[in-house]
Amino acid sequence: LGVGLVRSSTFLNCISHHTPPLTHVNKLVLSVLAPKYQNIFQASIQNPRFKFPGAPTPAFIITPESAVHVRAAVVCTKGLGLAVRVRSGGHDYEGLSYRANEPFVLIDLVNLRKVRVFPKRGMAKVQSGATLGELYYWIANRTKTHGFPAGTCPTIGVGGHFSGGGKGTLTRKYGLAADNILDAIVVKADGEIVNREAMGEDLFWAIRGGGGGNFGIVVEWTIKLVPVPSKVTLFSTDEIEMYDGGTDLFYKWQKIAPMLVDDLFIRATIYITGIEYLSTVKVSFNGFFLGTTSELLSVLSAAFPELGVMQKHCRESSWIESVKAFNDGYKEGETIEVLLDRNHYKTGGPFKAKSDFVTQAISRKRLKAIWQVFLDIYPGMMILDPYGGMMDRISEFETPFPHRKGTLYSIQYYNNWSPMEAADEKKNLNRVKRLYNFMGPFVSKNPRASYVNYRDLDLGVNGNGGYNESKRWGESYFKGNFERLVKIKGKVDPENFFRSEQSIPLP
Ligand code: FDA
Repeated sequence: LGVGLVRSSTFLNCISHHTPPLTHVNKLVLSVLAPKYQNIFQASIQNPRFKFPGAPTPAFIITPESAVHVRAAVVCTKGLGLAVRVRSGGHDYEGLSYRANEPFVLIDLVNLRKVRVFPKRGMAKVQSGATLGELYYWIANRTKTHGFPAGTCPTIGVGGHFSGGGKGTLTRKYGLAADNILDAIVVKADGEIVNREAMGEDLFWAIRGGGGGNFGIVVEWTIKLVPVPSKVTLFSTDEIEMYDGGTDLFYKWQKIAPMLVDDLFIRATIYITGIEYLSTVKVSFNGFFLGTTSELLSVLSAAFPELGVMQKHCRESSWIESVKAFNDGYKEGETIEVLLDRNHYKTGGPFKAKSDFVTQAISRKRLKAIWQVFLDIYPGMMILDPYGGMMDRISEFETPFPHRKGTLYSIQYYNNWSPMEAADEKKNLNRVKRLYNFMGPFVSKNPRASYVNYRDLDLGVNGNGGYNESKRWGESYFKGNFERLVKIKGKVDPENFFRSEQSIPLP
């Protein structure tokens, strides 16, 4: 059971001691024997790769409803000498929010999901356990002229996402979620509850992109809303074979997409279709534009006519409808309320992803070589998001997220497989690795950069390699900002309470 009954009652007494009178401690704290324990534990596991018999489970799950409850969880977990894991939406690619290789307590923020919107002040307050879908929904419920720049998948948790940056269709126009944070409430490792003024600018800098699970538990964020017009336009092109014009088009996309007006975001998705020796590599482009279809067509006819976007590829809607549709298309009869459903967009099977940033357009010849390796590896997918726009105008030191000016686009390599293929997990993991290794010469170097929100333990883990090993993954995610993060970690969590395979190490 991880911890015995004695420790269990010690823990419950401690929580009861640190929470207001009449708190239902038995509701707040779930031990392994509690009827709801399994439901709560499993509910937010987004990568089924980490759901297997014998997988590590927490000694207790705590589901706080206030910052004071979070503080009690921190103080009592420390008192018991256990490690801690913090989970908001559970989308961590490597499952670091709900698994550990030492006995641990899981603080699950699923009950901390209030969203309060203040349209006149152009801001909102959102608790970390809310999903992006909930945040977007409640913003649109209160105002038709505001939105927020964050990720495209509605079930992502605000807590982990904002902590690592957070990018989506509005990023070229307004930057990352982390670039639009005004204040936050954090429970520190010593149990102190602080806002921006009390935490100081170093910690406030670190929590806006320095990665989740490092510096404390962010309970609530105050965010700056951004303007959106009454009509936006989404478009999807027909899919194009790489060997039939797709390569030329993709080559051009690399150069043009990061230079387009900030209002326009065009994602490229590269994938394989067909079976075995009949398979081929295709590309399709999905766009989001802050304006009407006719305005979009006029921008594209001047800047990128080769894309062949016509009226029939476009759909105008409100911003909130586009949020839903960018993820899974416009579906008859489906309303935006689906954004409130934490389970609606669950990923299919176990998956592995890795990331890169590209700073120089890849030549046509090299692209063709990449398609060949991609075909050999089969299956998988590459999702490519253009940067530029606002991302070029924010200094790489402004927040810990350093992938700014000079970045043309990011690549996410993604492979998922059927749960039936669990025995083939190694083969599937290797497929992503092989493609990633082949891509080395064509992407950013010294360091080869990665996105911390696409967590990848292959980049290295804390442990026997000491600081130098941590520096390897740390500089990949944060470049020159890694050292500042390490110094801040030393100040705010000198006992390394918030630790994991890839937590910021102590100096
Ligand atoms: P989770 O709860 O797993 O937390 C992630 C990390 O943050 C863990 O280390 C955790 O301990 C820590 N943490 C969680 N809550 C915290 C808190 N309140 N305070 C401090 N630390 C906390 N990214 C993107 O930028 N744009 C996108 O469009 C997408 N799309 C996408 C789709 C899908 C299907 C997945 C699985 C993932 C993405 N992502 C993404 C990546 C996503 O941004 C990343 O996984 C986030 O860290 C997820 O945040 P959650 O709160 O859901 O994760």
